[in-house]
Amino acid sequence: MGAYNPPLEGRTERDYLLLDFSESTLPPDAAVTEAIKGFIDAGRLRMYPSYGRFVEKLAGYTGTPPERIIVTNGSDAAIQLITHALLEAGDEMIMAKPSFFVTESCALSCGAQVVSPPYREPDMAFPIEEIVAAVTPRTRLIVVVSPNNPTGTSASLEQIERLLKVHPDIAVLVDEAYYEFSGSTAAPLLRRYDNLIVTRTFSKAFALAGLRLGYALSSAAFIAELHKIRIPYDVNALAVVAAEAQLDHPQSWQAYVDEVMHSAKPMVERFLGEHGVFYFPSDANFLLVRPDDVQACHAYLKAHDILVRPQRAPVADTFRMSIGTVAQMRRFMEVYSRYSGARVAAARVAAVQSD
Ligand SMILES: Cc1ncc(COP(=O)(O)O)c(C=O)c1O
Repeated sequence: MGAYNPPLEGRTERDYLLLDFSESTLPPDAAVTEAIKGFIDAGRLRMYPSYGRFVEKLAGYTGTPPERIIVTNGSDAAIQLITHALLEAGDEMIMAKPSFFVTESCALSCGAQVVSPPYREPDMAFPIEEIVAAVTPRTRLIVVVSPNNPTGTSASLEQIERLLKVHPDIAVLVDEAYYEFSGSTAAPLLRRYDNLIVTRTFSKAFALAGLRLGYALSSAAFIAELHKIRIPYDVNALAVVAAEAQLDHPQSWQAYVDEVMHSAKPMVERFLGEHGVFYFPSDANFLLVRPDDVQACHAYLKAHDILVRPQRAPVADTFRMSIGTVAQMRRFMEVYSRYSGARVAAARVAAVQSD
């Protein structure tokens, strides 16, 4: 197995427009900074963190009782806990490809095999039939990333329910890292299916990626098992303070989500369409875009202070870009227009020279 080596270095060297990690493109509400300052000024950094009050708040936000919730150091840590609880050498995990590398890597580190039916071309639809067909007596876990990173496409609730019914002993992990943007969740199915696990994060819509906070929802019995193998204080106190402030002041992140999904994203989609640039339909705050030449386009955008994320096979001819505010996307469109213009001019020169 390979290590996860995301291109994080140098991102603060210039005033880059950061569209490369599907983070929030704006910092969190001022209430978050105030809450963190207040916590530090009250001298509370010396204390071990406690989670009870926050989990109560999260219960209200998710509509899930506290005993069905575990908070983790980013949803990455939730995924690691879950895979380590469920998988051992010889087991199989099914997860369609392309998708989030960390989950695959967690399964491999347990000695499990990852079975990866491909997302369906041409629109990267969720490959439900192929996943059902891939189930064997060794399958312990089916992972559904919805919306999926990097394709942006979702599984429907009917498809998720079908997987939950395949076999009650096979756990189904629904990774909802982009839930606040998609507005669609499998959480109501928790009441009926003990084999369902939902993970979410404060790294995306809540703009707290740097503090590391995620959580998992499942049956009380499975959550109790996860508590047995977790590290006790791995969620730090400042992450909890910041997340509470976000849940208490939803107006600003909700306004951001609204602007991204209902103003900025349709604007960028129109723009790409007008420029003949292919992109996959997405339910998340990012788009998977196929420009004429991904290396040249990535280099041009970077040279003009915009970072996007080139992808690996089977979508190596694409980049993933976060959608930000309308103003930020205007900056992107302006630079992309100049890139397109330069490409057209270069092609004309080449055509004239070859005549
Ligand atoms: C699908 C998916 N799941 C989980 C994560 C991990 O998020 P975090 O560990 O920051 O909560 C990401 C981050 O990019 C993601 O795209």
